[in-house]
Amino acid sequence: MQVRKALLPDVETIHDLILTYSQQRDGELIERTVPELCENVRDFFVVEDESGVFGCGALHLYGTHLAEVRSICVRPGASGRGGGRLLLEALIAEAEQHSVSCVCLFTRAPGFFGRFGFKQVEREELPDKIYKDCVNCAKQDACDEVPMYRGELPHFAILAPPEAELKILRERIKPKR
Ligand SMILES: CC(C)(COP(=O)(O)OP(=O)(O)OC[C@H]1O[C@@H](n2cnc3c(N)ncnc32)[C@H](O)[C@@H]1OP(=O)(O)O)[C@@H](O)C(=O)NCCC(=O)NCCS
Repeated sequence: MQVRKALLPDVETIHDLILTYSQQRDGELIERTVPELCENVRDFFVVEDESGVFGCGALHLYGTHLAEVRSICVRPGASGRGGGRLLLEALIAEAEQHSVSCVCLFTRAPGFFGRFGFKQVEREELPDKIYKDCVNCAKQDACDEVPMYRGELPHFAILAPPEAELKILRERIKPKR
């Protein structure tokens, strides 16, 4: 069994893996489209054995203050073999290579991540995640995922709330008199 960076030819398998959990298993993962996966394939690691790729996971970088573990899963039937551990350790190591001080994630499997030093936190402590995803999520007022982090909580956000973004844009395009 080995973990490695994903490559474009892995996208179809990654798409199928994520689909298993986004559609057939009660939305445990957010669905990712093929074009989105191609664009972000360099965020991904895959885990494989002699039968091929059976798991994937991604690290989304916000900045050195924050990164997020996303789309981590192993094929149903391949759990409990250490694939999830290999993926998560690779993602944490990559965050460390980038000098990221906090790794966060939203999950319905807090027990797994707790084993790797992740602690529960209020989602308001992770504003970049809110501005990136929660603001567009249908479940934003009834979130059933547990926010978790590892490291030092960020002291600032790099993304702006949508309203503020609009305001900045309006200022920029204001005609000069
Ligand atoms: C969560 C998931 C990635 C774990 O992968 P896995 O390959 O089964 O995990 P591993 O075999 O590497 O387990 C590593 C350790 O975590 C433990 N573990 C695994 N899943 C766990 C869970 N849900 N709760 C608590 N501990 C868990 C294992 O017992 C093992 O402990 P050990 O080192 O003492 O033996 C996998 O169960 C999965 O794909 N889940 C569905 C998708 C999902 O919910 N992803 C998380 C969304 S953020």
